[in-house]
Amino acid sequence: MNKIEAATLRDWLDAQQPVTVVDVRTDEERGQWAIPGSVHINAYEALRAGQPGALDEVALPRDRPVVTVCGAGRTSQTAAEILSARGFDAWSLAGGMKAWSLAWNTADVPLADGTVRVIQVRRTGKGCLSYLLASSNEALVIDPSLPADVYLDLARHDGLSIRYVLETHVHADHLSRARDLATKTGATLLLPPQQRVKFAFTPLADGQRLQLGSATLRAIHTPGHTNESTSYRLNESAVFTGDTLFTNGVGRPDLHADLQTIRQRAGLLFASLTRLRHLRADISVLPAHASEPIAFDGRPIAAKLNEIAGWLDEWIASEPNFIERVTSNLPPAPANFSRIVELNEAGDVPSGDATDLEAGANRCAVR
Ligand SMILES: [Fe+2]
Repeated sequence: MNKIEAATLRDWLDAQQPVTVVDVRTDEERGQWAIPGSVHINAYEALRAGQPGALDEVALPRDRPVVTVCGAGRTSQTAAEILSARGFDAWSLAGGMKAWSLAWNTADVPLADGTVRVIQVRRTGKGCLSYLLASSNEALVIDPSLPADVYLDLARHDGLSIRYVLETHVHADHLSRARDLATKTGATLLLPPQQRVKFAFTPLADGQRLQLGSATLRAIHTPGHTNESTSYRLNESAVFTGDTLFTNGVGRPDLHADLQTIRQRAGLLFASLTRLRHLRADISVLPAHASEPIAFDGRPIAAKLNEIAGWLDEWIASEPNFIERVTSNLPPAPANFSRIVELNEAGDVPSGDATDLEAGANRCAVR
């Protein structure tokens, strides 16, 4: 049977190679997350029931391969067999969406400051955004959510050595690869000061600076999403806001907390957003998440502060209204978040299949 690995499909999409991705999952599963640009045919039940006509109605281009996708890569095999029998060059995505969870792509972030390069490294399915900053052959990585090799290869490709690894906060939606990346590269691991993690790190407190070539990164403590949440301002050109401020929403203040704590954190978040709002109007806001799976289009998920001021100003016009808004509009908690937080606090990436824990969409934002 023709199977294609997630890494190969990633390469095809990254190279803009013509391919039709056919997602055969249920509407509900599809609604959670999907491969950008994929065609959805809700044929799951029909395929499971062995109905040979399950994909009869489907008109697909014949001049390119078809990759069928389901949750774990079994039903998609049946779909690929049916399409092969109809003469298509059909492949089944091995491991399904679970395997796709680690697929990634990159986008260069254009900055007015030409002495620093910023690459947004996107874990497409979950929408996790990490960053590789480079200046004078040195690099640092913020919020790595992909295996260390991804960042090592990107750095090697551009002749960079990774000197620092930073986190904006203790993450609840994905397993942090920061400690592992720092160990593998010999880089210094910098985290916001806090007592949560059980491993050694170098604290970077509010107002402290980090120099990388011509790039100066300054820590801005922006609590609310979590107490330690910190944003990092790069020169005058960009600010890495973690899960505090997104391009279309703000961080959720609730995980692991009772209602009183949630309201307290929402108050902190209000103050943090007000603080960020006072940065230069043309500064680029670079968050740690997108709310949708990220296309292989090379376009960064970013916004100038003045581009998001429209909704942000309305949100932070009144503290009581803001608290009401973010506490009454909370999305369901991310899957397995308690376990993920526990592992991130311990500094462990389980040696087995991490994607089991991390499966599903990202739910870090309130919108
Ligand atoms: Fe988060």
